Amino acid sequence: MTVVTGAGGQLGIELARRLDAQTAVTLNRPQLDITDARLVERTLGEIAPRLIIHAAAATNVDGCERDRAEAYRINAVGTWNVARAAARAGAAMVYVSTNYVFDGKKLGPYLEYDDASPLSAYGWTKLHGERAARQVVDRLYVVRTSWLYSRWGHNFLSRLTNLDASDGPLRYVGDQVANPTNAGDLAAAILELSTTEAFGVHHLVNEGATSWYGWAAAVLAGLGRADIALEEISADEFPRAAAVPTNAELANETARAVGVTLRPWSDALTAHLREVAA
Ligand SMILES: NC(=O)c1ccc[n+]([C@@H]2O[C@H](COP(=O)([O-])OP(=O)(O)OC[C@H]3O[C@@H](n4cnc5c(N)ncnc54)[C@H](OP(=O)(O)O)[C@@H]3O)[C@@H](O)[C@H]2O)c1
Repeated sequence: MTVVTGAGGQLGIELARRLDAQTAVTLNRPQLDITDARLVERTLGEIAPRLIIHAAAATNVDGCERDRAEAYRINAVGTWNVARAAARAGAAMVYVSTNYVFDGKKLGPYLEYDDASPLSAYGWTKLHGERAARQVVDRLYVVRTSWLYSRWGHNFLSRLTNLDASDGPLRYVGDQVANPTNAGDLAAAILELSTTEAFGVHHLVNEGATSWYGWAAAVLAGLGRADIALEEISADEFPRAAAVPTNAELANETARAVGVTLRPWSDALTAHLREVAA
C-alpha cells in the first residue's frame, strides 16, 4: 500500500488522481492529523504501507511566521510522527520540502547539497522536518519543490483568473525569483522517483525560473488579458511577515541523474491554462 498524507492539498489531490484506489490510501487532515502521534501510529500501523508520501504541511509562509509554534508542531513534529510510523512499517518515505530552506544569496540555481540557511519560520520548520525524517528513516527521499499551483485550492493563479479590467493595475514583485511548478507535474515526478530507490535529496521543479511579476505576466498573456494593467514592484514595496529569499531557483540535478525530468515552467503553465479553459 502507498499512503499519502495531506491528501486535501494541491499536491495531495494530484497524487490521489494518479494512484490506484486498490493500492493506495489517501488521507486528508480530518482523516489523519499528523500532529496526533497516537493516531498516526495507529492509523499507519494498521495500513502497514510500503511507501508513505508525506505532503501534509503548514504552507502559509506568512502564517507560519505569525505562529511559529504551530508551524513547528505541524512541519517538524508532525513529520517526525510520520517518519517514525514509516520506520516501524519498514516503509520508504517521500518528504516534500521547499526551496525556502535556502537564504537566496546564491548566484544561480540551488543544488541539492548546497547548504540550507532558511530566512523564515516556514523554511526553518520544513528544514527541521527534513532533519527529523533523515534521523528516523533510512529509505528516504527528500523532495524540495517551489511555487506550486494547480486548479485546486488557493494559489497564485486563483487570483489571476476571473479579473475585471477595473481590478488593475496589479502589482507584483520583480526581484524575487523561483520555479513556478505545476502540482500535477510534481505528483507524476514523485511517483516516478519513488520507483527508483535513489534515496537522498532531490529537487523537483518545472525547469527554469521567473519572478512573481514574470509569472503574473505569463499567466495574463496566456489568458489573453491584455486589458489588465500589471506593474513591477520591488520586494521593499511589498512588506510581509516572513522574509523570503531573493533567489529561490532550484536545479533538478540528482533526479535528472536517475532519469526523472520535468518540462519547462512556461510549457507547463501553457498546458495548464489550456486544460482549465477546456
Ligand atoms: N505551495 C507551494 O508553493 C509550495 C512550495 C514549496 C514546497 N511546498 C511543499 O509541498 C507540499 C505540498 O504543498 P501544497 O501546495 O499541496 O500545500 P497545501 O495545498 O497547503 O496542502 C497541505 C495540506 O496539508 C494539510 N495539513 C495541514 N496541517 C495538517 C495536519 N496537522 N495534519 C494533516 N494535514 C495537515 C492541509 O490541510 P488544511 O488545508 O486543512 O490546513 C492541506 O490539505 C508541502 O509539504 C509544502 O511545504 C509547497
